[in-house]
Amino acid sequence: MAEEETEMENGENPVDDLYSAASPPGSTQGQQSAQGRHVEPLEGPRGIDIGTSRIVEYHKEGLKFVKNTQLNAFFAVPDSGFTRRILDQNDIHYKQENGKILVVGDGAQTFANITNGEIGRPMASGILNPKEKHASMIIGSIIDSMVDRPDDLGESLVYSMPGPIRGSASFNSVFHEGILRNQFVSKGYMAKGVNEGYLVILSEMEKDDYSGIGISCGAGLANVCFSYLSVPVIDFSMAKSGDYIDSAAAAAVGEHANRVRVIKEEELNLVADPKTRLERALHIYYEEMIVSLIGHLIDALSESENVPKVSHAIPIVLSGGTALPKGFRENFENILRDSQFPINISEVKMAESPLTTIAKGAYLAACLNKEGEDEGY
Ligand SMILES: Nc1ncnc2c1ncn2[C@@H]1O[C@H](COP(=O)(O)OP(=O)(O)OP(=O)(O)O)[C@@H](O)[C@H]1O
Ligand SMILES: [Mg+2]
Repeated sequence: MAEEETEMENGENPVDDLYSAASPPGSTQGQQSAQGRHVEPLEGPRGIDIGTSRIVEYHKEGLKFVKNTQLNAFFAVPDSGFTRRILDQNDIHYKQENGKILVVGDGAQTFANITNGEIGRPMASGILNPKEKHASMIIGSIIDSMVDRPDDLGESLVYSMPGPIRGSASFNSVFHEGILRNQFVSKGYMAKGVNEGYLVILSEMEKDDYSGIGISCGAGLANVCFSYLSVPVIDFSMAKSGDYIDSAAAAAVGEHANRVRVIKEEELNLVADPKTRLERALHIYYEEMIVSLIGHLIDALSESENVPKVSHAIPIVLSGGTALPKGFRENFENILRDSQFPINISEVKMAESPLTTIAKGAYLAACLNKEGEDEGY
């Protein structure tokens, strides 16, 4: 689904926002930052958020910013020429495979709803799902439906990459990264994977000189990056986020994870008293997730030898779909206040547009790459 982004979720205009972040040619405006590092929005570069549940693409067309979103999902239906014709007529993307049609992207959810089935996902916990043998083909097909070949060969493109999962010796994203890079390079892009937590920093912390903690709470993972003056100091991920909350709350009350997800997305309010057993379970697992996240962050900060002595308080920015329920920010702030957090935090704030933060950060990183300014990450 393509959308022209003339307004972000809080009503601010992203065009103004990005232009104010950039110095016009020849101007000294905005060059007081410690690194003098600002991102010039450009036409051509592309940013792609490759998420476990959604793929989001972000680029500039003329004066407007455009985002495309597709579910990172598939649904198998029996193959027939008639079905393919109807899918083509309705602009629903699919691949033929072994006598089946794999409907990919948003169309997968439509079919799952009609047949009361479950969508399949090519990714799990932030990377290609090793248990899904068609994973690369499915994700390639979704990307094909969203990203054309560039007008200029070698155009800059950045895609999001998960940070290493803390405590997981088996986490390895090399295959995932290689498959994605190939996919984009074969289209004619100069493609690079950049850490998801760092993309929150690029997207949201220009006014803070890119010093702060960026957090993206997605479906498979929560990604975290602590950056100081644009240098990523710590990044990691935690395999406890939206999918974990859905399945744990569902198991606790004997529900289907899919139904739990729908209720969570439509009704959950983390600052109101829970009215049902399911709501109570969601509150409990949300709290557990935030406690774990802050605990991992404290441990990572205390283990690292690179943490600079930060003389002033820095912000935390929260993004991603799992951060969306009402009261998430307040809960996060309360749990942080009760923890022995080793760095002074000026504020905990929501990203401007939590579902687009990563794709926008990737787009800005692609603009920096194009200008040859990618040494910092
Ligand atoms: N309004 C909402 N309220 C609560 N949860 C939501 C809402 N909208 C989406 N989510 C949840 O957010 C998660 C998806 O978030 P997001 O799109 O940021 O993840 P992703 O980038 O695809 O995954 P990851 O970063 O883990 O690879 C899912 O668990 C989904 O159920
Ligand atoms: Mg994500």
